[in-house]
Order: sequence, then structure tokens, then C-alpha cells
Amino acid sequence: MSRKVNSGFATRAIHVGQEPDPATGAVVPPIYQTTTYVQSDLGVHKGFDYSRAANPTRRGLEENLASLEGGQYGIAFSSGMAALSALMTHFRSGDHVIVSAGVYGGTYRAITQVFNRFDLTASWVDTTTLGPVAAAIRPETRAIIIESPSNPMMSLTDIKAVSALARERGLLTIVDNTFMTPYCQRPLELGAHVVYHSTTKYISGHSDIIGGAVVTSDEQLAEDLYFIQKTLGAVPSPFDCWLTSRSLKTLAIRMDRHNSNALQLGRFLVERPEVKAIYYPGLPSHPQYDLAVTQQRTPTGEPAFGGMISFETGSLENARAVVQRLQIFTLAESLGGVESLANHPATMTHASVPREVRESYKLTDGLIRLSIGIEDVEDLETDLAQALAVLA
Ligand SMILES: Cc1ncc(COP(=O)(O)O)c(C=O)c1O
Repeated sequence: MSRKVNSGFATRAIHVGQEPDPATGAVVPPIYQTTTYVQSDLGVHKGFDYSRAANPTRRGLEENLASLEGGQYGIAFSSGMAALSALMTHFRSGDHVIVSAGVYGGTYRAITQVFNRFDLTASWVDTTTLGPVAAAIRPETRAIIIESPSNPMMSLTDIKAVSALARERGLLTIVDNTFMTPYCQRPLELGAHVVYHSTTKYISGHSDIIGGAVVTSDEQLAEDLYFIQKTLGAVPSPFDCWLTSRSLKTLAIRMDRHNSNALQLGRFLVERPEVKAIYYPGLPSHPQYDLAVTQQRTPTGEPAFGGMISFETGSLENARAVVQRLQIFTLAESLGGVESLANHPATMTHASVPREVRESYKLTDGLIRLSIGIEDVEDLETDLAQALAVLA
């Protein structure tokens, strides 16, 4: 076990928390599809008493995720929003958080329409530079919540710099690492306290599981999050945990292909006259390209830009015309699966963000967000070319 714990990323993705079943020798651990566990005497059991509190299949997934993110504790949830909710319920009435402007629309909705009911306030700040973050800190601030790259504008936050500032001021840095996955970016190594995920996306990778997770090395925080997990009960099913663990085994090779396909398509799109602006950190024209190169790296040190590209078509009509003509890209919400998807953020993932807010960070009606899958890249390029031709 310890050899596997200290080994490379892909080896850990396949082995940590995934030991052969001691009862039967099954190489793939079984799905512990059980709610409850026998007790040989009052309170005497093998560490599991009720599956909301703990389940062996979930535990295996949690160990694996913690290992990949370089953290001590993994806590799995039934969705990315449940993971964020657990983090928010760690705070108390009167607390304040600083959040990157331009985060996923559901995060914005949860903070502005649900957590505000409990007097948890938020400042929405452009976290691409440190000045506004420092200026937004108040005596009641507890955390800085960042999404880097942001969804869908692909703005980056310097995780190392924000984490250093947060530590100096006694705050938590919480990073949504959904777009990058631990294969492409490891925020805990950069000084962040907490990473969370919508595991629905690249981690599950096949568009068939809703899930979430938090990873941290902070023992006290982890203890509270396990307490919140079992008390509020937003836990994933054993089957979903098993599928997610299976998906993690191919995360490294899937991400390599997402990265290389997106790089080729980013270079293709930037040359197309129909594309009015492109938001993708793998292009030297991205204003934070240098930060992307240093911050987003595979475990072996290669720059990793992820599989997400957004681009501007100029109008709602143009965006509609393009997505209607796509044949391999599927028009759908979500991202991170093996199949390529096209999303229209203004009417889909970010519809709950008021127009003036989203337009303040250039999320216009003409914006299309692509999740580049792992199909043959030539087919994807041909599909985009024929769809964009409608605007010529
Ligand atoms: C960056 C990001 N964070 C969090 C979430 C929420 O995750 P879930 O849909 O699994 O609740 C999403 C969903 O799209 C997302 O894109």
C-alpha cells in the first residue's frame, strides 16, 4: 500500500483506495450496496455502522481523491453543489466570503439566493489581480473562494499569491478545481487550504454521474466537513462512488487527450475570421498565458491548458446558427465528458446570473463554450469549420 501511496499520479489513480477485496480476492473492489452493518455487540463493529456516516466504497473514492489532490482528507458528496454547500455551512451567520466574479452560475445562485438567507455575505471580486482581493477583506471575512480557470470566461487567478495573502490574513483559500482536475492543477501544492470539485465533469468523465468532493489537509476543517456530510446527508450512492473510482483510473490519459485536442482546436479557432474573441489559456494571446504555463501543469511538469474553450460569435443569432449546425458537438449543459459538447452559457449554465452581472465580465449572448472531448481531433475541427461557415 505505501509504495502505491508514494508512486506517480496514474499509479495512484488506479490503486489508492482500490485494493483487491480481502474476502474474495476480487481485483476490483465490490460495490458495498448496503445501508447498515452488523454489530457483534452494542457499538462493536468494523468501523462502519450506517452508510450515510460512512461506506467502504465511498471511503475508497475519498482516499483516492485525497491522494490525487495531494491532501490528507477526501470528503465525497452527491454533487458539486453539495460540496460547495458543505463548505458554506462550515461558516456561520455574519461571516463574509470573497468570491471570484464570473464563477459557475449555480455557485452564484447558491450564494446569492440561498446562503444569503443565513446572513452569509459575499463580495464578488475580480481575482485576476491581487489588489481587489486584498481590498475586499473585512474583519468578518473567512474565506476567498476562487475558480481558476473560471467558467466560462477562462480567467485565471494566481492561486499561490491568493493563498499566501489568505494565510497572512488568517483566511481559507477554497479552489474550485473542476475545470483542471488534479492532473492539470494541484491547488493544495500552491498553498490553498481546500479544493472542491464537481466530480460530475472530468473526474467522472463519461457524462453519467452527478457527484462532488472536497479535499483538504486541514484536520479540524476535515472533521467538521465529515460531520456536515453525515449530518446533512448529501452523500453519493455506493454505485456512483464505484463508477467514479473506475473513471479516475483513466483520468490521466483522458486529460492528456482533452488537453491536446483543445490545444489544436484553440489554434484553429483563433485563426477563424468568424470568431470575434477567444477565451482559452493555451494561446499566447490569452492575457494570463504566462500564469497558465506555470500554474497549470501535469504531475510530470508539462503545461496543461484543459479541455475548455469559449469564443464570441457576436450575437445570440450567430451563436444559435453555429450550435444548430454542429453535428459531432452536442448542444448540452455540462462538460468534461469524453464526448464534445457545445453550451450557450447565457441561456444555459449561467441563465441564473443577471444580464448586467454576466455582461460586466463579457459573458454575452454571443458566447459559446466548448467542452472538447476525446474524439478524433480532425473530425472535431471539420465539424467546427462547417458550423462556423454559416457566419461567413
Ligand atoms: C466549475 C463548476 N463548479 C461546480 C459545479 C456544480 O457541480 P454539480 O453540477 O455537480 O452540482 C459546476 C457545474 O457545472 C461547475 O461547472
